[in-house]
Amino acid sequence: MQKPIRIAPSILSADFAKLGEEVRAVDAAGADYIHIDVMDGHFVPNITIGPDVVASLRPHSKKIFDVHLMIQPVDPYIEAFAEAGADIITAHIEAGAHTHRTLQAIRALDVKAGVSLNPATPAGSIDYLYEELDLVLVMSVNPGFGGQSFIESQLRKIESIRKRIDSLGLDIDLEVDGGVNMNTVQRVIDAGADVLVAGSATFKGGPGAYAENIKNLRG
Ligand code: DX5
Ligand code: ZN
Repeated sequence: MQKPIRIAPSILSADFAKLGEEVRAVDAAGADYIHIDVMDGHFVPNITIGPDVVASLRPHSKKIFDVHLMIQPVDPYIEAFAEAGADIITAHIEAGAHTHRTLQAIRALDVKAGVSLNPATPAGSIDYLYEELDLVLVMSVNPGFGGQSFIESQLRKIESIRKRIDSLGLDIDLEVDGGVNMNTVQRVIDAGADVLVAGSATFKGGPGAYAENIKNLRG
């Protein structure tokens, strides 16, 4: 069942020189999740933040830390992100041969487990993982950078995963990441998403605009 819409600002679009302040600002502005993009310069062509930064941000917000790992391999780093204070850890299905084991390892640490699909990856690739999942993250851009354009074909994938979650009757968030803004948000919600990642659409205009930006995305 599609749950209430939750907004997850991606701090990739925040001012990295004052990340703690930025996290407090989006928290106060009404963010539901804080989406943290972890990139390794190997799985994706960009390098961002590691577990020490996540741990440093933890005291700045009690909101859900939604950690999106765009790294390969994943397994050696799960414990460090769990200890840093991640509430949800999401790994890419394309990042390893043993995603089922990765999801079990995440849940074994009492952290919610998510799986993410790149735009080219079919919905069916996660068909035998649903029982291990708390969240599915559909990438609506090729991962690596903020501010890219929404890839329309991903709406079909969101619809298909929504049907699957509902037919199984499982309590799983359906999150969409990339190019979510005022032009695309309604179609993303109509397709069945209930957690919306928004980087540039949240952080545009500076701290004074965050509350209004988040409110507008919520519809
Ligand atoms: C892309 C990241 C996204 C990104 C979204 O690789 O996973 O979370 O920050 O940025 P926008 O919302 O600007 O497309
Ligand atoms: Zn992300």
